[in-house]
Amino acid sequence: MPDLQTIVEDIHQALLPRLGEGAVADYIPQLAKVDPKQLGIAVATTGGELHMAGDAATPFSIQSISKVFMLTLALGKVGEGIWKRVGREPSGSPFNSIVQLERENGIPRNPFINAGAIAVTDTVLAGHQPREAIGELLRFVRYLADDDTVSIDDAVARSETQTGFRNFALANFMRSFGNIDHPVEHVLGVYFHQCALSMTCAQLARAGLYLAARGANPLTGHTVVSAKRARRINALMLMCGHYDGSGEFAYRVGLPGKSGVGGGILCVAPGVASIAVWSPGLNKVGNSLLGSEALEMLAARTGWSVF
Ligand code: DON
Repeated sequence: MPDLQTIVEDIHQALLPRLGEGAVADYIPQLAKVDPKQLGIAVATTGGELHMAGDAATPFSIQSISKVFMLTLALGKVGEGIWKRVGREPSGSPFNSIVQLERENGIPRNPFINAGAIAVTDTVLAGHQPREAIGELLRFVRYLADDDTVSIDDAVARSETQTGFRNFALANFMRSFGNIDHPVEHVLGVYFHQCALSMTCAQLARAGLYLAARGANPLTGHTVVSAKRARRINALMLMCGHYDGSGEFAYRVGLPGKSGVGGGILCVAPGVASIAVWSPGLNKVGNSLLGSEALEMLAARTGWSVF
C-alpha cells in the first residue's frame, strides 16, 4: 500500500493555490452561500485505514451522490425489477435534461440523472408517507457510514423545494407516461431531502466502503449487498456517475465515481479503497473541478484504476 497520508496531504497542498476555481451551483440558492475556497480529501481503505487532508471533516451537501445510496436501497426492495422503470445507459446529456424522456417513453436513461433518480425514489416510497421514506434512507446512510451524526440539511431541502422547477417538470412528465406512481410532491419531497444529506468526506468515504469491498463494509462486518450487486453499481457509476462528463472522468481517473452539485465526488477503487473528495467549485458539466483534479492526481500517484 502506498503512503496514503503523504499522498493526500501532497495533493491538498498542490491544489491550495487553486481554491475557488470553478463555479458554485447557484440554481439551489442555499448552495450558492457555501464558501468556494474549500477542499477535502478522505481515503478509507478496505484494510481499515482512514487518511484525511484539508476540509475532510466539514459537512457538505452530498446532492446527487445520494442517488447511489437510494439506488442501493431500491435494489434491495424492488430487485432487478427496477430496470423496467429506468435504463442503464449513459445519457450524454446534462443531469437535468428532459429531451430524451419524450423520445424514450418516459423511461430515463439511467438512475443517476435527475429523472432516473426521481423514478428510483418513487419505487422506494412504495405507498409510504414521504417522512417514512426519508427516515429509512437516513437510517441506511447512518448504517453505511457507521455514524449516527449524519443528518439532513433542511434549509437546503427547503431551498430546492422552492426552486426545483425542472425536477417538478421531469417528474410530471414521467407521471404522464405512467412511470411515477405517487403524487409528484411526495416523490420530490423525498428526493429533495435525500439530496440534502449532509456528510463529511470522512463519513462519505466510510459509507462507500461496501462498494470497494465486494458489498460488505470491512469496518463493521455489515453485508450491505452481494458482491455481484456491488460490481454492478460500480459499473453504473463508471458509465453514468458524471453525466455528460462520465467519459472524461473515466479517461482521466479510471475509477467508478459519483458526483454531486454540492462539489462532492465519491470514488471507488475496487478491492482497495473508497475515496471522497469535496470542493464546491464546479466545471462546465456540473462536477467538482478541483475534486476531479484531486482524484486524477490520486489515481496517478497510487496507480489505482479499473483498467
Ligand atoms: O436535483 C438536482 O438538481 C440536485 N438536487 C442534484 C443534482 C446534482 O447533484 C447533479 N450533480 N452533479
